[in-house]
Amino acid sequence: MNIGIDKIGFFTPHLYLDMKDLAQARNEDPNKYLIGIGQSKMAVIPPTQDVISMAANAADQILTAEDKEKIDMILFATESGVDNSKSGAVYLQRLLGFKNQVRVVEMKQACYAATAAIHFAHGHIAMNPDSKVLVIGADNARYGLKTKGEVTQGGGAAAMLISRNPRILSIQDDATFWAEDVMDFWRPLGHDEALVDGKYSTNVYLDFFKHVFDEYQAKTGFDISKFDALCFHLPYTKEGYKALKIAIEGADPTVAANLTREFENVRKYSNQIGNLYTGSLYLGFLSLLENANDLKAGMRIGLYSYGSGAQGEFYSGLLRPGFEKQIKHQAFQNVLDARQRLTVEEYEKVYNSRIKDEKTRMLDIESDPAKYVFAGVKDYQRQYLRK
Ligand code: HMG
Repeated sequence: MNIGIDKIGFFTPHLYLDMKDLAQARNEDPNKYLIGIGQSKMAVIPPTQDVISMAANAADQILTAEDKEKIDMILFATESGVDNSKSGAVYLQRLLGFKNQVRVVEMKQACYAATAAIHFAHGHIAMNPDSKVLVIGADNARYGLKTKGEVTQGGGAAAMLISRNPRILSIQDDATFWAEDVMDFWRPLGHDEALVDGKYSTNVYLDFFKHVFDEYQAKTGFDISKFDALCFHLPYTKEGYKALKIAIEGADPTVAANLTREFENVRKYSNQIGNLYTGSLYLGFLSLLENANDLKAGMRIGLYSYGSGAQGEFYSGLLRPGFEKQIKHQAFQNVLDARQRLTVEEYEKVYNSRIKDEKTRMLDIESDPAKYVFAGVKDYQRQYLRK
């Protein structure tokens, strides 16, 4: 049975910071951020957005009433959860108007969990062919002001509808994975910001890529020439570029040149948003779809998912006939271009203004143009609104 991504939507808030401004404020050469890290802009998450409101904004763009009727499972992948007990998915059940006959679960394994969710959805649909599953990866990447990781922050949500006879990507049963208990990046309970062994994490990411890609080639007999594009989890775009270099080492020059050209399409949106943990790989896939001019049905797309701690996975999908009808060329670029640029001072103020462990505080939601917002807390109960 053909199962895979039928629709994909994305949301990031209306605010951003230019990396040249950040470099100047942090006394760094702008080229370190622009070229060395490979980021030109960073999404700034206002206090009125969190993973649930961002997820609602992303899912709302793609779902019809008919989809909502067929969806019997919402898998919400995040490592920026707002409750130790209640799943983000159950807020979405009400906010987005789903029926009550739906399973709602939150999943965690750092940036990897949305990939696990896609495979769980795949298994569910294989057993229940008429079902559809909503998979969301939503995160707010925070390392702290004036830290080494600051330039790799960002945030947003990717929402995908997984179904039988998908219209965009048919997911292949070819995944290879690798797990190992390492401390490259983590966020202990109570910490608002990630702890990270930065250089070590970049090496683990690449080592895991080698493990899963070598095993993939041995398992399937496919070498690099079988791929038309490779998407990567992009903690910052230079890291994906390093993984690409490993993948194309020794490849036929035409194959290497094609994959390198497509990688520029893959990284285009992430370069302007930053890390968004669980949603990052799928933002790269959307960026490829919206920016490449030469994709064709039947082409094979490789996907490398990585989540610190750590889990790596490589799998592939085949573009479906008519996939281009589901995509609007460069549509998300228009959304990115319409964002408001903050000064470093304004960004720092926004960064420090989010609700943490407070009993009651309502937020000014008028300055946030998004449809779904986080309006504050009353007696520790989070308040979400559709405007
Ligand atoms: P750093 O020490 O600030 O940077 O940390 P650096 O000194 O290593 O420089 C970065 C690059 O810029 C280097 O290139 C420099 O040469 C270059 P590279 O050696 O990497 O090729 N550079 C310049 N280039 C041009 N012109 C210049 C210039 N100056 C320097 N003038 C680091 C960088 C990424 C470690 C830091 O930002 C960090 O800790 N970030 C957070 C951790 C991270 O993103 N890790 C990625 C892998 S782990 C992962 O992907 C999982 C994750 O998403 C979490 C999850 O799974 O949930 C993070």
